[in-house]
Amino acid sequence: MEKYRICGGKPLVGTVDISGAKNAVLPILAAVVLTKEVCCIENIPNISDVSLSLDILSSLGAKIRRLDSHTLEIDPSHLVTHVVPHDLSQHMRASYYYLGSLLGRFGVARSSLPGGCNFGVRPIDLHLKGFRALGAEVPDLPDNGMIEVKANGELVGNSVYLDQVSVGATVNIMLAAVRAKGLTVIENAAKEPHIVDLANFLNSMGADVRGAGTDVIKIRGVDYLRGANYSIIPDQIEAGTYMAAAVATRGNVLVRGVIPKHLESITAKLEEMGATVEELEDEDAIRVSCDKPLRHCTVKTMPHPGFPTDMQPQIAVLLALAEGTSFLTENIWDNRFKYLSELRRMGADVTVNGNTAVFQGVAQLKGAPVRANDLRAGAAMVIAGLSAKGVTIVDDICYIERGYEDIVEKLQALGADIERIYVAPSTAQAM
Ligand code: UD1
Repeated sequence: MEKYRICGGKPLVGTVDISGAKNAVLPILAAVVLTKEVCCIENIPNISDVSLSLDILSSLGAKIRRLDSHTLEIDPSHLVTHVVPHDLSQHMRASYYYLGSLLGRFGVARSSLPGGCNFGVRPIDLHLKGFRALGAEVPDLPDNGMIEVKANGELVGNSVYLDQVSVGATVNIMLAAVRAKGLTVIENAAKEPHIVDLANFLNSMGADVRGAGTDVIKIRGVDYLRGANYSIIPDQIEAGTYMAAAVATRGNVLVRGVIPKHLESITAKLEEMGATVEELEDEDAIRVSCDKPLRHCTVKTMPHPGFPTDMQPQIAVLLALAEGTSFLTENIWDNRFKYLSELRRMGADVTVNGNTAVFQGVAQLKGAPVRANDLRAGAAMVIAGLSAKGVTIVDDICYIERGYEDIVEKLQALGADIERIYVAPSTAQAM
């Protein structure tokens, strides 16, 4: 049983290199099955969600060759099935992207209802509405936990209005539509950087996708997609997490290999709280430091370009430490505050009122044994532990390793006192 042991209170100082974006690489790996030619993907992060996605590709019959630590060559020419195995799909929400891409490739796709981090009801009705609009048959109810979508003949482009901005539905409709006949228009589409990255990858394969990054995406179907070489964008949320950690520990960190534009909503809030954030455009880097008490602040999560829900738990640690009363409103998910009980055990003074958490700032958090409730909540526990007085043990770190490459090593290089420890199960129960 592995955990992180953090001895807090040391400012983070130095440089951290940001890995490729989890939320971009997962749809792009799924998109590879749309071609019968070899693709070469660079800047792939070594995280467990990528390993799961590669297992799915292998189970479909793709051949994968590692060219270097972050580059893979994937040959999807001889796929053998349109079924994503249940034991793989149940562990990762992004497995549902194979519904869109296999539907595009074979006209039929089957997968179980998606797993992933648990923060409330996570419906896929908008994905299915999109598939139906393109002419696919979609059952009303899953069959034995599995869902099968099937084109009646060929998929045909159509207009799809998303009742709510959805990253997943936007991706899935794009994947299904690139080889459909005619024009598909997605209205009220998600605008996240990873939507743009997926569109760029698809276009490099010969697709005709326009408008990604705006709320209307137009996709004109093409008959054939070729193989492509592509490099994944840097991870906005990993960068934001190190930015927050620098501020929480009163450190000074150069966060390198980022696209500063993607970080604007995070930068704005850190500055409002009193941190110094300097963009170094020529170096694709951002320097974050803070040597003053943090000011209280109001943060509301919104679809891009608003403040990302995936940074909500990490900024919560800063609000817990900011002078005065701060407000944090979660607008995307209905149950993404479960981790606050862990933060309270470290001394945070926070109450929840509907979808808003209200913080009365405390001067310092205290180390404690805590759990990672999910990926980003786990990152927040690490930040809290780094800033706290004393020792924090973080349990359930498998969630954190779904999305953060080499987090222990990267933090150690910044001077953090953090290590991965192995605790035998009987000892673990006593902790
Ligand atoms: C969402 C976040 C994404 C984040 C991810 C994991 C947004 C817009 N999306 O993406 O940034 O990386 O969680 O934390 O911030 N919905 C439906 N029906 C559907 C699909 C979604 O009602 O078919 C609703 C969801 O319940 C949710 C909202 O739409 O309230 C956004 O969901 P969606 O963007 O699809 O979720 P993810 O793709 O997981």
